[in-house]
Formats: sequence, structure tokens, C-alpha cells
Amino acid sequence: MGKKKLTRWDLQKMKVSGEKAVWITAYDYWNATFAEKAGMDMILVGDSLGMCVYGYESTVPVTMDQCICHSEAVRRAAKNTFVIGDMPFLSYQVSVERAVLNAGRFHKEAGVDAIKLEGGKRVCPQIRAICDAGMLVMGHIGLTPQSSGQLGGFKAQGRTADAAYELIEDAKAIQEAGGFALLVEAVPPEVCDIIRQTLSIPVYSIGAGIDADGQLMISSDVTGVFQAFTPKFVKKYENLADKTIQAFSDYRKDVKEGKFPAPEHTYKMIDGEFDKLTTLLK
Ligand code: KIV
Repeated sequence: MGKKKLTRWDLQKMKVSGEKAVWITAYDYWNATFAEKAGMDMILVGDSLGMCVYGYESTVPVTMDQCICHSEAVRRAAKNTFVIGDMPFLSYQVSVERAVLNAGRFHKEAGVDAIKLEGGKRVCPQIRAICDAGMLVMGHIGLTPQSSGQLGGFKAQGRTADAAYELIEDAKAIQEAGGFALLVEAVPPEVCDIIRQTLSIPVYSIGAGIDADGQLMISSDVTGVFQAFTPKFVKKYENLADKTIQAFSDYRKDVKEGKFPAPEHTYKMIDGEFDKLTTLLK
């Protein structure tokens, strides 16, 4: 029997019992299959797909249609894992109505279990409205890549008392608005720990230390296929980039040297049919 898909209440119980939730991003069918087989508690179809799959320099160009398409593929692969769709830039900032409709698209078209959006107090009206429409919203504060221009780049956040205080206020506002969980990115561990202790909902970390209720990593970082840059908080568990380049080069070399395809990689004609063909061709 396959594993059972977690609910928000299972995630809540894990916070209370101290069991860490582990999640990872996935953007396609195969990686989502592997994530489910590896027993991930959740999968995020992050708008990081813009950088990891499409090669954009930021997540800003990512569209709703791209996110829906990738979320659908992930949902098909990981039927028993809690899947979160990531709201891309301008899919929720412009108006509360647009936020609800786009969150709804993730549910109606891709069958996700929850959506995530970036920002603190300023997106709380959207969080409240999406929750009121019956959907689950995860908040995301700290380094919020969609506003990296405003933040001055992909930089750690909450490193001064004032900045940390603002983050804690944002976290409280997200819980108050109905968020079922919160992701804290690139923030000093002691600040994330205060947020974890302050909120009753689960608080997850990506680059915010070990004391959070769970950890998220980008799949392309874990497998070592994303080569543009490596954030400080990344631990590469494999180097699939080198392994894949090696496999492609071996294939190329075999073809150039006449070693591939070998007889075992080809189909045989039915007995006697080749002779018939030669007669036909005469
Ligand atoms: O898009 C994403 O993968 C994310 C993470 C960077 C947290 O939002």
C-alpha cells in the first residue's frame, strides 16, 4: 500500500510532537515521482522553476500558465503527497479578487492541496480572502525572491533587530489572516526560532536554521543540477550535472566510434520476411 497523503492537521500534529517535516521542490513528473518515493512530506512546485527549468535570471517572468502546467505534472506523479502550488509574480499582488481566482486555478486545474505566496502584512488581505474561499495558504517571508530587486538582491534578511522585529510582526499577521503554515527563507536561525515559538502554526525553514518545524530544499540544489550559483544554505547531496554530462558524452563517443546501437538495441524482422522483401524489391 502506498503512503497516505498528509493533511494540514497532520502537519500541525508534527509541529506539536516535534517531528520535522521534510519537503522539496519538484517541477516535473519524474522528480515528483522520486520525491514521493523518497517519502517527502510535501512537494512545492516553486516558481523557482523559472530559474531551474527555464533558465530565467529570476522568478519574475514566471507565468500562471507555466505554474499550472508544472503543478499538473507533479500532481499526476505524486498522488499521495501534499502538493503546494507557488503563486507567481503579479498573480496575487494586484488585487484580492485576482489572488482568489488564481489560487482557485491552482486547485481547479492542477489539484494542489495548498498555495504559497510571498510577503507579510501587505498580502494579508489576499491571504484572508483565499482562506475565506476555502483554500489553504502558506506564507513566505524573509528573502522573498519575487521582490529581490526591492531587497537589493538575493540577500539574507532579518539580520538587524529592527528588520527581525518586522519579520516577527509579518509572521504574526500571516497567522492572524488564516495562513496554515509559514516558510521563512534566508533568515538567522535565532530569528526563525522566535517565529516558531511565537506562532502556533508550523514554521518551516529554507536557509533559516535547524530549529524550524521542518526544512525545504530546492531539488535542483539537492541533486546538483542547478549550476548558476549556490546559496550558502544549500547542501548538495549529489552531482547529477557531472554525471549527466558524462552520460551524454559517453553516448556521443559510442555513436562516433560506431559502438552504438549494438545488435541488442535493434528489432529483428520476422523469420523469412527479409527474403520476401528482397524478392519484392527485385
Ligand atoms: O519557488 C521556490 O522554490 C520557493 C523557494 C525558494 C522557497 O519559493
